[in-house]
Amino acid sequence: MKVLILGGNGMLGPWVVKAMKTRHEILLTDINSPPKSYKGEFMKLSVDDVEGVVNAAKGMDIIVNLSVLRPHRRIAFEVNTLGNYSMMIAARENNISKVINTGPHFQLVGPQYEEWDFNLNPDMPPQPGTRLYALSKSLGQEVCRVFTEDNNIHVITLLYYNMKHHWDLSGPEQENIDYHLDMNVPYSTTWPDCGEAVRCAVETPIEKLNSRCETFFILPELPHKKFNSSKTFVVLGWKPMYKLESLWTKSNRKPENNNTEAF
Ligand SMILES: NC(=O)c1ccc[n+]([C@@H]2O[C@H](COP(=O)([O-])OP(=O)(O)OC[C@H]3O[C@@H](n4cnc5c(N)ncnc54)[C@H](O)[C@@H]3O)[C@@H](O)[C@H]2O)c1
Repeated sequence: MKVLILGGNGMLGPWVVKAMKTRHEILLTDINSPPKSYKGEFMKLSVDDVEGVVNAAKGMDIIVNLSVLRPHRRIAFEVNTLGNYSMMIAARENNISKVINTGPHFQLVGPQYEEWDFNLNPDMPPQPGTRLYALSKSLGQEVCRVFTEDNNIHVITLLYYNMKHHWDLSGPEQENIDYHLDMNVPYSTTWPDCGEAVRCAVETPIEKLNSRCETFFILPELPHKKFNSSKTFVVLGWKPMYKLESLWTKSNRKPENNNTEAF
């Protein structure tokens, strides 16, 4: 398949390219140039340039959006929200029937859900909260959904959180966490598996999707089932190579601010 990748020069992009390069024709785009080691096709393109994205998508079979901008108030909306608008216009104008959207898990299961400890699933009503990153990404997902109502475009949204190397599980999220309430630790996936998930989404026939707008958690199966990613295994056929078991265990450490007087 001919695959247009938007925002493909970040951390995830190279893993997506690695997973797909021998099976698909890739046109990589980003506002930044790729490293010299990248040997494929590249075009400089900003996702908020609607006309540019429409033109880049000519002759493509599928569009994958990996772009993201986290801290800046105006640019975050331009990239995280308008980027998906460009992608959907480009799909509509070029008769592309499938696009892949990506984002963090909290654009769907944000603060309102944080203390749930069972069966958080990708078909829950979105509760992104008000954080700029989560909210602008969640609105981007809503843009995709609205386009699917009247157009024959299928959107697969892949939600990630912690991306890790299986040999290096250290990181800031392992320090000073309240293990009992924290969501970070269990929701971790290795970089190769994150890239593979995009390949699986690209290769999933649209007939396997329950609707034109489907969301998937990208994380290995967890024994305590806090997050339910069974739909990902069944529909996308994604089989993660690593489970990262050592991150699943809850600490016996008591939270420092445990207010026992309240009980
Ligand atoms: N890295 C993580 O730990 C993580 C965790 C959860 C979700 N995600 C999601 O995975 C996807 C990829 O994230 P990442 O980690 O590669 O992010 P990243 O910040 O490393 O890369 C984002 C890319 O987007 C590009 N970009 C920024 N503005 C752009 C614009 N106007 N037009 C085109 N490209 C632009 C950047 O140049 C960069 O190459 C995103 O949807 C992100 O929300 C990542």
